[in-house]
Amino acid sequence: MKLTPLSAIASTHTTSQPAPTTPVRRLTSDALLQKKLASQPISAITAYDFPTARLVDEAGIDVVLVGDSLGMVVLGYENTLPVTIDEMLHHTKAVARALRRAYLVADMPFGSYHVCARDSMRNAVRFIKEAGAQAVKIEGGVSRTKLVSRLTTAEVPVVGHIGLTPQSVHSMGGYRVQGKSAEAFDRLRTDARAIAEAGAVAIVLEGVPRELAATITAEVAIPTIGIGAGPECDGQILVFHDLFNLTASPPAKFVRQYGDGAAFFAKALAQYRDDVSARSFPSDAESYHLSREVQAELAAQRPNARKA
Ligand code: KIV
Repeated sequence: MKLTPLSAIASTHTTSQPAPTTPVRRLTSDALLQKKLASQPISAITAYDFPTARLVDEAGIDVVLVGDSLGMVVLGYENTLPVTIDEMLHHTKAVARALRRAYLVADMPFGSYHVCARDSMRNAVRFIKEAGAQAVKIEGGVSRTKLVSRLTTAEVPVVGHIGLTPQSVHSMGGYRVQGKSAEAFDRLRTDARAIAEAGAVAIVLEGVPRELAATITAEVAIPTIGIGAGPECDGQILVFHDLFNLTASPPAKFVRQYGDGAAFFAKALAQYRDDVSARSFPSDAESYHLSREVQAELAAQRPNARKA
């Protein structure tokens, strides 16, 4: 039987994907803008590794975000703050290798763009140049406009992120819905406009009242992608592990689960454990065999050996 090396599995293309030599047709920021203009919702989801990114891409999701939620849902950190640039680059590279169509955005982690302009630029460029991202995402509003404009001028497309910004967990005093008072409502409107005018290609609105997200979506010229921001946004994003019940914590109000991955894996793992314990795995059909000729040759060499 011919063995398939793991490296070949990683580059296997199903019939729904173009052959490796076929030029890849990736969505662009302009394609996302066209969707907004045509009132066609933009679908987005996070991914952090090659196999899930491939599934997401094959499902026809428009945008893949390598979010720094990576820290919480994959790396087991308490929040997103400890995530490093190297961790984000490592996972972004894996996701980039899998994508044929989706637009790839990578989160800049906490501390990587809060430094001087020169270092922030240098860090951002690494996501495009080394990891293959098409845009970087940074959290914050008016206070980030200079950086957004600098990055845009340096050919680094930027996705903004305002509202409940997890990297501000300490300054927000926890993960709370933002923009609920009239003053906070206006502040976030100003933030959104400032980020859009500074050149961002899209903006994530997280954890804000539906009415605020609808207002911002109508006011800014770039696509808004909501998470916990109601249905009027130009697109929606969810964390992959939330969709499939793969996080340890109870889901937030805005999460809709599309499958019980935890139950699926638990059942399959218990079955595997039991099959190994009962020696019913592997079966003869799952084993390799010597050819008849080699078996005969070995038997002739050892005429007194007991037949296996
Ligand atoms: O890190 C992340 O996954 C995100 C999304 C929640 C938008 O920023």
